[in-house]
Amino acid sequence: MHPTLSPPGIAFSRQSSHFDDEDTKNPVLQRMRQQIYQHVEQLLRPSSDILELNAGTGIDALYFTALGHRVHATDISPGMVEQIGLKTQAVNDKITFQQLSFTDLDRIQERSFDFIFSNFGGLNCTDDLKKVTVHFPALLKPGGHVTFVIMPRVCPWEIAGLIKNGRKALRRFHRGGTIAHLEGAYFKTYYHSLRSIRNSFDSRFRFIKSEGLAILSPSPHTNNFPQRYPRLDRMLTQLDHRLRNHFPFNRWGDHIIVTFQYTP
Ligand SMILES: C[S@@+](CC[C@H](N)C(=O)[O-])C[C@H]1O[C@@H](n2cnc3c(N)ncnc32)[C@H](O)[C@@H]1O
Repeated sequence: MHPTLSPPGIAFSRQSSHFDDEDTKNPVLQRMRQQIYQHVEQLLRPSSDILELNAGTGIDALYFTALGHRVHATDISPGMVEQIGLKTQAVNDKITFQQLSFTDLDRIQERSFDFIFSNFGGLNCTDDLKKVTVHFPALLKPGGHVTFVIMPRVCPWEIAGLIKNGRKALRRFHRGGTIAHLEGAYFKTYYHSLRSIRNSFDSRFRFIKSEGLAILSPSPHTNNFPQRYPRLDRMLTQLDHRLRNHFPFNRWGDHIIVTFQYTP
């Protein structure tokens, strides 16, 4: 293992070899990804150049290249980046990859992108999103978009579990972040309100929209809820679809999808 690797880098590297298996088997994660793709595909122009932050094993990078886009996939964990390399040999003219923290994006040279994408809470590993967004003007073409899929402070599904799960249900409200435990490693996770996400972008970026993801329907790590209660699960998912674009549900959920446009 890399001697100076950060705790999230160590944890996610350990998770990398079985990450895809857990993702594919989880129906909640699968439907969340579908909602994210719908959101992003409304904004992507044909043959876009995408910069992906915290790309994990490259699941989304492969999805977007199959649609004809090019992706530069970055992640801090060597294990994750290795998985991207293994999977993408067949499409290597469309995917490039780099082991890189999203706070060091100045190490990407001479590239400009139509889209910057960060999926599934990688950005919850930082308490200061400005350390990431500060690099965007140098990387984005004018008119380009940024989409973050990030864990907000309010998750109604988790709060509803207050009686069963006690204080854990309120973990997102801790100001200084909470300790996450993954694969034997501990690291801090920070939850970001829509307001703090918006404040991390300067005036050259226009807020486009935000939508809630898994608001009243179960979070991905709720054991087998869709299999045990299929009718209730369907009802809650339909309700989410009706509510997800409306205040305050567009800023609540297990994650939220937030998009900005670069308008210098
Ligand atoms: C929950 S995984 C999501 C992976 C991928 N986006 C997906 O949707 O499958 C979070 C990812 O964030 C990455 N990550 C954490 N901190 C990071 C940082 N400072 N810079 C870049 N990636 C980071 C981890 O290595 C991990 O791959």
